[in-house]
Amino acid sequence: MRHLLDIVDLSVEEIDALIETAEDIIKRPQHYADSCRGKKLATLFFEPSTRTRLSFEAAMYELGGNVIGFSSAASSSVAKGETVGDTIRVVSHFADIIAMRHPYAGAPLAAVQKTLVPIINAGDGEHCHPTQTLADLLTIHRQYGSFENLTVGVCGDLKYGRTVHSLIEAMIRYKGTRFVLISPEELRLPEYIKNTLTKSGMEWTETTSLEDAMPELDILYMTRVQGERFADKAEYERLKDSYTLTPDKLCSAKATLSVMHPLPRVNEISVKVDDDPRACYFKQVENGKYVRMALILKLLAEKEKPFDYITEGALLNVYKCRNRNCITTQCASPDQIFLPSGDGYRCAYCAHYGMG
Ligand code: CP
Repeated sequence: MRHLLDIVDLSVEEIDALIETAEDIIKRPQHYADSCRGKKLATLFFEPSTRTRLSFEAAMYELGGNVIGFSSAASSSVAKGETVGDTIRVVSHFADIIAMRHPYAGAPLAAVQKTLVPIINAGDGEHCHPTQTLADLLTIHRQYGSFENLTVGVCGDLKYGRTVHSLIEAMIRYKGTRFVLISPEELRLPEYIKNTLTKSGMEWTETTSLEDAMPELDILYMTRVQGERFADKAEYERLKDSYTLTPDKLCSAKATLSVMHPLPRVNEISVKVDDDPRACYFKQVENGKYVRMALILKLLAEKEKPFDYITEGALLNVYKCRNRNCITTQCASPDQIFLPSGDGYRCAYCAHYGMG
């Protein structure tokens, strides 16, 4: 059946259609108020969340459906040692669709192998966060009316920031996009996404200076340094305040700039920026609910469509993934799957190259 694990699971045409549905929901919410009557969404959050979980739940209620689930692994039988696969298999008897968040990259793909209902990835480790990207895209569309010819600065933790990974994978498909990658050396974008950028033929540059990049940007996408992903807490302490956006730094920015952030923020954006008309991060939150409503409708309507995660040339149970944050290093049961990507084999769960 149809799932959403990664933003590239959706074609550009499908994203356009989701944006169109979300914009229609904004215009006439009453038209959708009974669309999911009798349906249940399960929100399975093995990792903390405010926006994503509550916006999924609000989305399902506004479609006339109901919600079950848990907001932490500690309050589920995971605390007794249950695997992701077993948890999903069980819950898929109780719900029509599942939105899940997990601290390990690739957990939603492990879930897909056991589920009886559609799975939505609500964020998996440092890997990706496709529904945040849908919220970001709806925000960009409402700001500019298009996705073309935009210069996007992504700033902060580009190594562990899953929202950035998904945003880049989405935006490289639009004509005239340019990316400026702004981060400390230690938090640069993973190699596999840089290779995707290079292969796409789009223009991109790397810098450590937010001030130098500012004047050319149409979008500034700030991110939090993801403390929960660091093995070395001292390194997190050293890097956590690498960038703070303050009103004075916006003096050199375009009047039409959009300042975005997936939230939660810590120190990356001063609260003094909140009243600047260019601040869009609370609009992203609002848009997240509408686009998740559109996504729930789409996946429930396409339950019978096939989802192929093992493509031609895949290596099955030949090598093991070496990424310590990959679900396959935590759970014995999912198959080890490496897929050819044009620049080497990559783990199907976490997208990393390392195999051994
Ligand atoms: N943007 C985002 O994923 O926020 P939460 O962690 O609060 O869900």
